[in-house]
Amino acid sequence: MGFVNQNIKPLNTKVNSKGNIEISGCDLVELAEKYSTPLYVMDRVTLEKMANDYKQAFSNYKNTRMMYASKALMTSAIASIFYKLGFGFDVVSLGEMYILKNAGIDLSHATFNGNNKGCDELEYAVLNNIARVSVDNFYELELLDNIAKKMNKVQKILLRITPGIECHTHEYIQTGQLDSKFGFDLHMIDEAIDLIQKQYKNLDLKGLHAHVGSQIFETKIFEDEIEVLLKEIRRIKDKFNIELNEVNIGGGLGITYVESDAPPNVYEVAEITIKAIEKYCALYELSEPVLYIEPGRSLVATAGVTLYTIGASKNIEGIRKYISVDGGMADNPRPSMYCAEYYAEIVNKKEGYNPEKVTVAGKFCESGDILIKDIELNSPKAGDTLCLYATGAYCYSMSSNYNGVLKPAMVLINEGKSDIIVRRQTLQQLVENDVVL
Ligand SMILES: Cc1ncc(COP(=O)(O)O)c(C=O)c1O
Repeated sequence: MGFVNQNIKPLNTKVNSKGNIEISGCDLVELAEKYSTPLYVMDRVTLEKMANDYKQAFSNYKNTRMMYASKALMTSAIASIFYKLGFGFDVVSLGEMYILKNAGIDLSHATFNGNNKGCDELEYAVLNNIARVSVDNFYELELLDNIAKKMNKVQKILLRITPGIECHTHEYIQTGQLDSKFGFDLHMIDEAIDLIQKQYKNLDLKGLHAHVGSQIFETKIFEDEIEVLLKEIRRIKDKFNIELNEVNIGGGLGITYVESDAPPNVYEVAEITIKAIEKYCALYELSEPVLYIEPGRSLVATAGVTLYTIGASKNIEGIRKYISVDGGMADNPRPSMYCAEYYAEIVNKKEGYNPEKVTVAGKFCESGDILIKDIELNSPKAGDTLCLYATGAYCYSMSSNYNGVLKPAMVLINEGKSDIIVRRQTLQQLVENDVVL
């Protein structure tokens, strides 16, 4: 048992006396029967353990602000849990801001990110006193200044920069490299600051923001990122005579989806981050800034699993056996989108072990709708419950109604109790915006 993000399964996952897998005292077969499948299951104990580890790991640097990256998984209940744990939020849309408000959380606890924020979104953010807007480009600088001026407000901002750092993760989840749609390139920063100082009087620049990518396994990346950010802050101080004292380093810590994944733990990341801040603040003679971190995946992924029921199968002699489940790319687009890998187990029948190599296919009308290619499962049969691990991040939040399926329910489990936190969509909801001619 390592740290949460180094495990594939939630804490307290075991085979119970009935021979079924249970998590946190909840039998997964019973959950599937009670709530039906596909079903997202979030384990509160695992989620809170990871959140508390983050807090503990960064407690040596007093000026740290934890901002949960809502894009990983945003529901009112999940937002409330993080809020109670002392987290703020990284939000990227009107919808995410609205969910926060729905959970009774003020936007003064949130940073607004994104490369093409809409006018309506920025207006909502400013009106509701968002703590920071991380401005991504020149277009947004002008738009936001106009909005703040109309409301007679001064909006606190960060500048999102592209630090020019490449990390070894999937191309689609890299964001810090030069050829990226996000942020100001380093050579654009001076022009942006010039405009803020001379023209955009309703913007108050507090610091710099970067995010180098997601599912990161190399701690060194965070050191490099801090070096770039603090070097820029020094340069800005010399040129413009202002000392920015906030740095937001984004999120990105990876998790173990399959055995070969080897992410660092959060204490290692915190140590290298804090040491880098101390080192570069000393080198560039800067006072230590407020540090914002925005983890998403590593906070929620391992706490979540998805339960499916196995249905049809197809055996192509000598080639492959497909077993199909009652969900797939609509509830988890990650494998078809960027070849993400997952581990799964049959939840029932844990007594004997008769491994069979199969490919787990979704039910959607795309050949690419494969959840797991080649995995050994315990004699999978129609009617068995399959548990796909580490689906807490970027699954529900990326889900769709493709093929007209209803989005699954989500339950929160906690020491033997289960509560619905997202109801299963209904057919009525599926057509509620449809206009019949
Ligand atoms: C700006 C920003 N912050 C934080 C995150 C969260 O990253 P992760 O879920 O990898 O921790 C992302 C993810 O894409 C991001 O773009």
